[in-house]
Formats: sequence, C-alpha cells, structure tokens
Amino acid sequence: MRSINSYGGYAIFLFIFDIHMMLHFSLRHVSVDQLRFYCLRLQWSLPHPICLIDWLNSQSFYPKISWIDRESGWHMVACHQVFVIHHLPHLLSTQLIRGQQHMPFRLMGVASSSPSFCLPRYELHHVANQYIFALNYVFTTSLPLEHIQSAIKQMSHFIASPYPLNNNVLFHIQYLPNLYGWNQTLLQMLHQMRQTNIHKLVMARQKQLHFQHGVNVFDWLTYKPNCFHFVYIWQPHLALVALSPERLYFRHQHHLMTEAMAGTRPRSVTNRQDALWCFHLHENEKDVLEENWVKLDLEAKLNQLGTLFTSHHYSIFQTPYVQHLYVAFLVKLKANYLDTYLINSIHPTAAICGSPMPQAYLMLQKYESFHRGAYACPIGWIGDEDAHLCVSIRCALIRENQVVLFAGSGILAASLPHAEWNETENKFVY
Ligand SMILES: *[C@@H]1O[C@H](CO)[C@@H](O)[C@H](O)[C@H]1NC(C)=O
Ligand SMILES: *[C@@H]1O[C@H](CO)[C@@H](O)[C@H](O)[C@H]1NC(C)=O
Repeated sequence: MRSINSYGGYAIFLFIFDIHMMLHFSLRHVSVDQLRFYCLRLQWSLPHPICLIDWLNSQSFYPKISWIDRESGWHMVACHQVFVIHHLPHLLSTQLIRGQQHMPFRLMGVASSSPSFCLPRYELHHVANQYIFALNYVFTTSLPLEHIQSAIKQMSHFIASPYPLNNNVLFHIQYLPNLYGWNQTLLQMLHQMRQTNIHKLVMARQKQLHFQHGVNVFDWLTYKPNCFHFVYIWQPHLALVALSPERLYFRHQHHLMTEAMAGTRPRSVTNRQDALWCFHLHENEKDVLEENWVKLDLEAKLNQLGTLFTSHHYSIFQTPYVQHLYVAFLVKLKANYLDTYLINSIHPTAAICGSPMPQAYLMLQKYESFHRGAYACPIGWIGDEDAHLCVSIRCALIRENQVVLFAGSGILAASLPHAEWNETENKFVY
C-alpha cells in the first residue's frame, strides 16, 4: 500500500491516477468465513444529480441490485460482484487498517433456502441530496491499480442513454393454486384449524403472468412510499423485485430494531373513510388479537437475544394501499451475535406464517401449494457493524417471459375462501 498517502482519511491519487478529485478510502482486513483478504473501498461525491435506475440499467455487469430504505429514503444501486457466497455468512469481521472508519463493507443478498450474498464492485448512493460513487476491491498481495484507475474514470463519465420503450404483450394469466384448488385447500385447512389451537395461518398464492417476449426487469421497478424496495437481478431475465412494508430487523452494533405488523385494512382516498378503517383496526378484537400473537412470538424470540424494550401501544402503519397495526421493539443484544444467528432466531415470524408458531409453520408445509423460495424470505444487506433486512412479502419473480407475483393472507377459522382469495388479489402490488 505504499502508493496511497493518507491525510486523515483522504487518499491523494493525483500522482498515480491523474484523476483530479478527492477520494475517500478505507483499507480493511476482512474475514468472511474461510476467506481472508484486504478490501479497499473508494468513495467520491458527484457534483451533480444522476438517475440511479438509468445508471443501473446501462451497466453490463451482473448481478444488479437496488435497495431503498423505508424510512430514510436512502437509495443504493450496485452491480458486478467482487465475490459471492451461497450461504449466510458464518463469520464476518472487518478491521480498519487505514483510512475512514465509517465506510461500510456490505454484502447484499437474498437469504432464501438457497441464499446468495455478494460484495458489489460498483455502488452508487443517493442520500439527502448527495450522490456518491463507491468501488470495492479485494486483494491479498497487490492492488490492481490500473483497473481501479480506469474504473474511476469510466464511472465518473457516465452519460444516461434514453430508456427504450418496450411493447411486451401479456397473453396469459395463470393462478397457483386456481380458485377451485384454493377453495378446496382452505376448506380442509379450516376444518383442521377448528380442531387444533392454531388460530391463524398465512397462506400464499401465485399469480403468473405470461408475456410474449422476455420481460425487461426495469419495466417493473416502481416507487411506493413506506416500503422497502429491493431488487436483485441475477441475469438479464432473472430477477426478484420486492416492495415490502415488513422489516425483519435493523442492527447497529449491539442494538437491534424490529417490529410486529399484523391486521390489514385498505386505504381510502377520502380522509374520513381512511380514518374509519384505521379506527376499525384499533377497535377490532380479532385484529388486536392477531397483532398480539405476532407480538408474543417476537417477544419470546427477542428475550432470548438480550434486553427488550417495547412500546405497549399499537400504532398504525400505512402503505399506499393498505394499513396495519404496528408495534416496534428495541433490543440490546447480550452477545456479539452474528447476523446468521439473528436471522435464524427471528425468521420466520408469526406475521408470515401464522400463530401460534411453530405449529402454524408445520401446518403450512402441508397446505401451501408451492415452495416459498425467494418469497417471504429475508432480503437486504449485512455488514459487520450494521445489517438491515426486510422480508420479501409482496414481490415478483421475473424469469424469461414470465412474472410470478406472490401474496399471502391471514386465514382464521371464520375465513371465507372466496373473500380471502379476493383479499390476496388486492395485495398483488403490480
Ligand atoms: C369457492 O367456495 C365458495 C364458498 O366459499 C363457493 O361459493 C364458490 O363457488 C367456490 N368457487 C370455486 C371456483 O370452487
Ligand atoms: C370476490 O370478488 C368477486 C369478483 O370481484 C365477487 O364477485 C365476489 O362476490 C367476491 N367474493 C367475496 C366473498 O368477497
């Protein structure tokens, strides 16, 4: 690292790179499972705004990833993997050697039954009027200086190309299960529910859209307030697009934030009706009971992990289409838990399975008509100091000519199959 002179976290690359701008850097020693290496991260601000999605669309490297935070609106897009691991990291630690402390090392990915997490090569961030490029390089002995130099120049001189119009034709819609199958399954399930103490099951179904041509993932990226946005594009026609209100947890060092969300009412364009639905959620015994189950399940899990702080009052969480009962938790973790451990301890929650857990989980295995795969699994990013994961409820899986939409609904003993069918239909967000 002799060629990098550092002045309080700034790197002067002017001599070696002939690049006339200020770069922030951090050089870390990183361990991910058995792998040990150095990671150099370079960051620089752009003097002008840039459209992140246009930038991502015009890149030729995969995977392509996009993440928008639900509260802060921080948007990050990334592409190209420095490396990928096909499991949740069992060990992740970084140690600063030189440069800036607060330049995070993040693995982005999907923690489904076949997980996939990667360290992106190129990142572009938009947060509070700032646009920031970042580059990640790993090495064991010497830095690929020439490659870094050309990457910086190339990224800085990006010009957005016009977005091509796509006339794709939807020619077939298929449901899994179909209405008849859903009816039959629910009738059997309700019968069994009445004989057990399981009072709620969250059953999901698929709506498969078949198009004439390969689907362009970028046609499916929309923005909705109060949702986590997560997009993982493995290949040009293979992607997961999730728009989810549901946080699994946010961790900062030894502090973990999570939440219980349950009960659903629609939103209304009139304030009066909207407030009525909201009032109804608060007053309805069934919804409050349902939220209690989700809360109890989480509390039991979180109490194992550390000291728990909970609010005793439920509030209302609103997305543009629906509203839910909501309660937040803060946990002071009692040990240096790995995110792998935290994810496995908290997921799946009663909110996506049913209650009481884990009986609901077992019953679901019997009745749901497909493997959930990337549906209802933790998605987001894991760093050593911080991690943020949401749950991919309300998502679309894009594969070649097909878009598979997923949505679930909470089935209670008193549920009517056709009404539940209709409710899930409203939850398909596209
Ligand atoms: C589904 O069940 C309802 C009763 O809950 C019935 O009215 C309806 O005809 C059934 N539909 C199908 C397609 O089986
Ligand atoms: C479900 O929606 C269909 C079509 O919109 C409607 O005809 C039916 O009455 C609804 N059923 C229930 C139980 O809400």
